[in-house]
Amino acid sequence: MSGTRKLHVKSYGCQMNVYDSHRMADLLAREGYVETAQAEDADLLILNTCHIREKAAEKIYSELGRIRGLKQRAAADGRRLTVAVAGCVAQAEGEEIVRRAPVVDLVFGPQSYHRLPALIARAAAEGRAVETEFPVEDKFDFLPAPARAVTASRGVAAFVTVQEGCDKFCTFCVVPYTRGAEISRPVAKILGEVAALAEAGVREVTLIGQNVNAFHGAGPDGEPWGLARLLRAVAEVPGILRLRYTTSHPRDVSDDLVAAHRDLPKLAPQLHLPVQSGSDRILAAMNRRHGRDDYLRTVDRLRAARPDLAFSSDFIVGFPGETEADFADTLRIVDEVGFAGAFSFKYSPRPGTPAAREDARVPEPEKAERLQRLQEAVGRRQAAFNARCRGLTFDVLLEKPGRRPGQLVGRSPYLQPVQVMAPDRLVGELVPVTVTDLGTNSLFGALAGAGGPGVPASAAGA
Ligand code: 5AD
Ligand code: SF4
Repeated sequence: MSGTRKLHVKSYGCQMNVYDSHRMADLLAREGYVETAQAEDADLLILNTCHIREKAAEKIYSELGRIRGLKQRAAADGRRLTVAVAGCVAQAEGEEIVRRAPVVDLVFGPQSYHRLPALIARAAAEGRAVETEFPVEDKFDFLPAPARAVTASRGVAAFVTVQEGCDKFCTFCVVPYTRGAEISRPVAKILGEVAALAEAGVREVTLIGQNVNAFHGAGPDGEPWGLARLLRAVAEVPGILRLRYTTSHPRDVSDDLVAAHRDLPKLAPQLHLPVQSGSDRILAAMNRRHGRDDYLRTVDRLRAARPDLAFSSDFIVGFPGETEADFADTLRIVDEVGFAGAFSFKYSPRPGTPAAREDARVPEPEKAERLQRLQEAVGRRQAAFNARCRGLTFDVLLEKPGRRPGQLVGRSPYLQPVQVMAPDRLVGELVPVTVTDLGTNSLFGALAGAGGPGVPASAAGA
């Protein structure tokens, strides 16, 4: 160990990158690094990147342009700034990054994080290190327990990676290439991590994976456990009050998982289940391996088990060959499911994916116009969903001080931020709140029994 050095990690993209960034910081803390919020102060700067769409990847290069100035200033002060690119752009582009941005000293993919100290040493000795192999060992065996995860963005709510990678090969998606084949972490490790988080004050955990409901981790009994069984075990961990999981694939919604939604009151009645398109033709071209009716049936099965379940989705508009009729099917499914929210994206061709080789490109203006129509349709549904929450009482996990003095802000079961007049001592508590008003980005509520109409919690839902 060689004294205190300063680390700045900047995360892009998905929640798994945020989790990975914390784990890298935990690992480097053992090497004597302390984190700094200011990139200018850093001795080591890590960009944990996202490759999912072109815009996300290009952002990295403009950031690296700015970092060149930082590195020059550090050198002028007699300091060496080591610049590292981690994550999915690193995995996908490897050496190319160093060619395009010589400011970069170190490039490594998501499966190499545990080798970071050795890679830093190699970059220092050889001037540069690039590592994008998929190592045979499991990085989770080498990463320290997630001390930082406790202080993750939402304090009393934390994320735990349970599964990584994807074997589905949707034709638009880079994930199977950047994150690699599906692997599930062993159940005992996950439960240990959740218990440590609960001990440190975490009350809500979201189990994350690129294809989380394909989870098949080795159980303590030697058998592979599915996600449903894992959820039942996590619900038993003392101190854990609420559970979520993301992101799911519609193909892997097993009867067991549906039953878990029926049986586990701690499992939040909210599910992100991306459908991507409402057109059978496009779903087939995307290699999603399900049709619109399969998706609607899955939604029905889940709603039969948990009637207050709210769904959200991702959508891609302008996939190669998408006609106006296909797009109309997508608009239709928004209303049929009644999504409480959705993320919509213009199709972005990704290098190495099958769809990127298709000629039938949808012109950019058409993509933009469809995106706008879809966002309006989703916005209407979301507003209707929020409006139906007015007057309901549901459990809110209070997380931190709110916008005004005396207020706390928390999350509803549906992930909406809720502003509530409540004493500070209630941070970290799950309390019944009656929704009194709707804001633009949050709901307003009153502690139930403190002047609210006192609708029983069981009446919650939409
Ligand atoms: N173009 C546009 N959107 C994409 N997504 C994944 N790949 C692409 C792409 N090539 C979207 C999908 C996915 C979300 C995380 O990003 O909707 O669910
Ligand atoms: Fe990408 Fe499809 Fe795998 Fe999701 S299921 S990560 S969209 S390949």
